[in-house]
Amino acid sequence: MKTFLVFYMIGVVGFANCDTSSSEWSYKYENGWPNQCRKAGQQSPINIMSRSAIVDTFQIHIRGPLVFRGYGDVKLRGVNTGRTLKWKFEEDTGAPVLSGGPLRGNYTFVQFHLHWFSEHAIDGIKYPMEIHMLHIKTGLTIEEALKLPDGLAVIAVLCQVHADENSEYSLQEIEPLLPTLYNKTSGPGFISTLNLSRLLSPQPQSFYTYHGSLTTPDCQEVVTWIVMDHPISISDYQYKMIRQVDVGGVDNYRSLQPTNRVVYKSAASSISSPLPIGLLGVLLNMSSLLKSTLGTGACVVINLKRKFFADKKNYCTNAAA
Ligand SMILES: *[C@@H]1O[C@H](CO)[C@@H](O)[C@H](O)[C@H]1NC(C)=O
Ligand SMILES: *[C@@H]1O[C@H](CO)[C@@H](O)[C@H](O)[C@H]1NC(C)=O
Ligand SMILES: *[C@@H]1O[C@H](CO)[C@@H](O)[C@H](O)[C@H]1NC(C)=O
Ligand SMILES: *[C@@H]1O[C@H](CO)[C@@H](O)[C@H](O)[C@H]1NC(C)=O
Ligand SMILES: [Zn+2]
Repeated sequence: MKTFLVFYMIGVVGFANCDTSSSEWSYKYENGWPNQCRKAGQQSPINIMSRSAIVDTFQIHIRGPLVFRGYGDVKLRGVNTGRTLKWKFEEDTGAPVLSGGPLRGNYTFVQFHLHWFSEHAIDGIKYPMEIHMLHIKTGLTIEEALKLPDGLAVIAVLCQVHADENSEYSLQEIEPLLPTLYNKTSGPGFISTLNLSRLLSPQPQSFYTYHGSLTTPDCQEVVTWIVMDHPISISDYQYKMIRQVDVGGVDNYRSLQPTNRVVYKSAASSISSPLPIGLLGVLLNMSSLLKSTLGTGACVVINLKRKFFADKKNYCTNAAA
């Protein structure tokens, strides 16, 4: 068991947040999002087809391994923003730094937050949850970064749910805090010391990468996406807690956007099968609660927002084939 620390903060602390939109918006009504979210540019999230992704054999785009510095012991403040659960880095120095892979230069960690169900799909499969670790090009302000095509880098980690109570799960460090975040946070939130490495994929060099956008308004196309292709595991109990969190509805994911661009995969990703049959079994082998929530599993999740699909292919049939 990892040590779990909670500090109660006295006084009022502002929550700068990466929600850069001035207007109200909702996951229930994506057609009401600002215009730039609806133009067919390079929007996110997308369905990544593993067979179409390009292996960068000559290391033109992915020039080496990803380098994670300082992810081990990170003090973060957890809040319910009303749209997601977010853990934000607030100190002046010592933030984790990401570099390597498709990135040119250093990117400083800002916050991570959760989406349930997942936003990205791989080979048509969506997952119960997705973690986004947002990084900003080192030295830039958020306003500056939002104007540059390579201003932000986001690591996306897909999560699958297991019913076995005796395993170690990735969210163990934040689990005790979840009930305090069910409601939109009115106070300053709580500070925890987390090991962010535990929220990364078991194989962090195995990923897809593409250029896209923020998945919330104003949907700026300034993000280098790094989507890990090996999911982490969370427990059924943890997922039940997360689904009690009030984010203005029961879930908080944007529908899939047209892929219309090149997706690269890392050399490690091309070696390992991105979606072994066993994984599909595990994914669908969820507890009775999940089965009642999801019906027959991942396919139902996909079909939930089917009407928003740009590509009318039947992803579930593809995935099962
Ligand atoms: C963080 O977790 C990783 C992976 O479990 C482990 O290798 C590392 O030692 C941990 N770091 C700290 C500071 O606990
Ligand atoms: C990235 O950070 C490392 C460590 O602080 C530093 O050595 C390196 O020069 C930085 N790279 C760039 C491009 O600024
Ligand atoms: C959350 O909000 C509900 C309704 O607004 C309230 O009844 C409940 O006590 C709140 N829970 C916490 C933990 O603040
Ligand atoms: C599904 O769960 C059952 C019982 O919980 C277990 O025996 C079985 O091995 C699991 N299947 C997979 C593919 O994980
Ligand atoms: Zn996100």
